[in-house]
Amino acid sequence: MMSKPTEINQKREEKLETSEGSPPNVPKLMPGGNYIKIGRDSARSTCLLFAPAAEEVGILAKYLAIFEKHGVNLMHIESRPSTKIPGNYEFMVECAPTGNLGDAIHDIKQKSEYLNIISRDYKDNKDSVPWFPRRIRDLDRFANQILSYGAELDADHPGFTDPVYRQRRKYFADIAFNHKHGQRLPYVEYTAEEIVTWGKVYRQLTALYPTHACKEHNHVFPLLVENCGYREDNIPQLEDISNFLKDCTGFTLRPVAGLLSSRDFLAGLAFRVFHSTQYIRHPSKPYYTPEPDVCHELLGHVPLFADPEFAQFSQEIGLASLGAPDDFIEKLATCFWFTVEYGLCRENGKLKAYGAGLLSSYGELQYALEEKAEIRPFEPVKTALQKYPITEYQPVYYVAESFEDAKERMIKFASTIPRSFGVRYNAYTQSIEVLDSKPHIQRLVNNVNSEIAILMDSLKKI
Ligand SMILES: [Fe+2]
Repeated sequence: MMSKPTEINQKREEKLETSEGSPPNVPKLMPGGNYIKIGRDSARSTCLLFAPAAEEVGILAKYLAIFEKHGVNLMHIESRPSTKIPGNYEFMVECAPTGNLGDAIHDIKQKSEYLNIISRDYKDNKDSVPWFPRRIRDLDRFANQILSYGAELDADHPGFTDPVYRQRRKYFADIAFNHKHGQRLPYVEYTAEEIVTWGKVYRQLTALYPTHACKEHNHVFPLLVENCGYREDNIPQLEDISNFLKDCTGFTLRPVAGLLSSRDFLAGLAFRVFHSTQYIRHPSKPYYTPEPDVCHELLGHVPLFADPEFAQFSQEIGLASLGAPDDFIEKLATCFWFTVEYGLCRENGKLKAYGAGLLSSYGELQYALEEKAEIRPFEPVKTALQKYPITEYQPVYYVAESFEDAKERMIKFASTIPRSFGVRYNAYTQSIEVLDSKPHIQRLVNNVNSEIAILMDSLKKI
């Protein structure tokens, strides 16, 4: 669940200010009945990656003395082999926003072969790269960065005046907030009323899929019925779906407590992780929801994440976002909007939908294929600049020739992002490799060479 890009920074700042003084991990009741949770200081922590100039006995103690001298508290210390300098090792330390970090960084730099700064407060420091998760479990930190906690509803939300619904939303937000990587996804006992709402949406949409959804969606849907309990009278569980997707493409789901910033949401895709809501829309308006809900995620998004080409396309958007400047994050979020959310494709000359926003809206799914709105080819450079409404039908839709083609275009677009390093997902370690040194890249090239040798050998045997 991703926020509208333009609101992000303003909202984040508001939330950070209002959280001052609140104990970590405890929801704070704000004026207007909204709960806000801001976690420990990780929102403002700074990560430093550095390698000592030479192997020296007791070097760590010398570094620690520097932090102590400048009053900087450390939240986490890690040492590991350096990926940049073979035979050397590097430290990764996470500094709390205390003391004189600037002077500490200056002193560390003097003693190090290299120093990288990764920070949420990157705007204040020209040398630093916007923070991004390096390991899959770093995604746990997003729970502390929620822009709008799940129980907060706008005044025009159908459930705004319904205390039972609001309580239920808080329940969903809390279970998502407390979820950690590696745990089973929360099992939810849905109420009879919630199942009725799901059934209405399910019945209506599944009637349209055979004629309106792309072939990939229609191919996967029966498998979800078979394996994950997709039925009119049953709301499937995230855990079952996540296991199914993992077998298909390595994608997994993660419950989310509220709106994530575009930067965080897209970063999840780099790990093939999709942040999903688990609550359902208000029963008074089964065919309308002002925000993503479980119908949107499970009927719209999930089937496509089981498709290998689509999964790779989605991951490319995520990888492109890591450490990218703010204006590029907005462009990538816009590309995401016009593809993963509202994308169309052509099959045998006919338009079909693959975007989740369309596949979860009975009205717009028909409207988009009637070609009443403008239809343009998907070209990331141009698509990225298109403005869009979030509560009305889209005035323009973009058509992808194929997921493969869309992916190639995204990779090309990503290469224009001003970033001093390349990134690659290592599926063995479930972590992001930052490619900014020759020895590291050389090692990867060698790996690719041996992979190619295996493939060539297999080809000969066929
Ligand atoms: Fe969505």
